[in-house]
Amino acid sequence: MKARIIPIVHAPNSMPQGSHELAAPLDGELIDRRDRRVRDLRISVTDRCNFRCVYCMPKEVFDHDYAFLPRSKLLSFEEIVRIARIFVDLGVEKIRITGGEPLLRRHIENLIEQLARLPVELTLTTNGSLLVKKAQALKDAGLGRVTVSLDSLDDAVFKRMNDVDFPVGDVLDGIAAAAAAGLAPIKVNCVVKRGTNDDQILPLARHFRHSGHILRFIEFMDVGSSNGWRMDEVLPSADVIARIGEEFPLQAIDANYAGEVAGRWRYQDGAGEIGVISSVTQAFCSSCTRIRLSTEGQLYTCLFAQGGHDLRDALRKGAGNERLRRLIASVWRERDDRYSEIRTAATAPPGGQGKIEMSYIGG
Ligand code: GTP
Ligand code: 5AD
Ligand code: SF4
Ligand code: SF4
Repeated sequence: MKARIIPIVHAPNSMPQGSHELAAPLDGELIDRRDRRVRDLRISVTDRCNFRCVYCMPKEVFDHDYAFLPRSKLLSFEEIVRIARIFVDLGVEKIRITGGEPLLRRHIENLIEQLARLPVELTLTTNGSLLVKKAQALKDAGLGRVTVSLDSLDDAVFKRMNDVDFPVGDVLDGIAAAAAAGLAPIKVNCVVKRGTNDDQILPLARHFRHSGHILRFIEFMDVGSSNGWRMDEVLPSADVIARIGEEFPLQAIDANYAGEVAGRWRYQDGAGEIGVISSVTQAFCSSCTRIRLSTEGQLYTCLFAQGGHDLRDALRKGAGNERLRRLIASVWRERDDRYSEIRTAATAPPGGQGKIEMSYIGG
């Protein structure tokens, strides 16, 4: 059995900077060391996926010997909802369900039904493969909208990227099913790898104009330590905009909300909007209000974190809501992350090892 890359985990009683038991009272604003609030909670519900995208779960690493989490280690829905409630109390306004592929988690609709009762925007990121089957049930459970990953319209390129021979037509059917169920506005995320799928930028743009769906191009990131990331495979968002703008004139538009990760552009002819997520060439850490809860209940304050904070242990040792609230608040108060802003060879861990994988922590 291959060893999974185990994130370094700080147990609640061994936090590096100060003890959570001594956390400051919660009156006053909850801000981190860089003056950022917590607004966006991303919950990963499984570390498994039925795709093996080359930039996320390369087959050579995530093969049948790979040690995915056993069921006993996963947070139960009850545990997730308890933590989510506390986050809402602390200021979270948006919850995103991620994975791995979240629709692989059994009875996911039941979790959605419970989270939908909270006063938050509830969204989910999926590879779209199960949407035909599940879109209506997700909508009925109270999900607001979905974001679907789609890296190519060309079947051969798409299959090369998902690496499990999954046909693009089935994802397009999934997007149509989500639209029919009213899970809108639908966002479509395309990770661009120069030389692999950058020839798909224009076909994707043409396809989604006038659809009402928001197509977004994401710069290939050095997340995790197994995707063989190289800077020369990153196509800067500025190039994406230039390529599309040449065929369809574009105009920059304002963000929907402070801290939105995507830069927004509208087609000047009124055919809709697109977005670019430039986490490599134009980092957005200074306004990062996101926190991530892993499948096994580790809290991560950055996508590139090397260590998490163990909430499951506290939960299962019987911590009350107030204790959990203080624990979470003090994790946020100590947060200082800004990996994308300081990304250099010097900041990468030795040998490229140790960063958590995107499939573990969620996109
Ligand atoms: P909405 O505006 O609500 O649709 O959410 P969003 O813009 O956060 O979009 P989404 O959650 O789909 O994120 C899109 C992609 O941006 C992710 O899949 C990641 O590739 C990237 N991304 C999201 N959050 C972060 C982050 O905190 N840091 C970095 N570096 N990249 C991120
Ligand atoms: N770079 C950029 N985005 C990535 N994703 C996964 N791995 C990477 C990476 N290396 C994003 C994709 C996918 C979401 C789940 O995570 O957008 O749609
Ligand atoms: Fe699965 Fe999404 Fe990762 Fe692709 S990017 S392997 S669909 S979790
Ligand atoms: Fe936030 Fe970390 Fe991404 Fe910067 S690198 S935007 S701090 S998650």
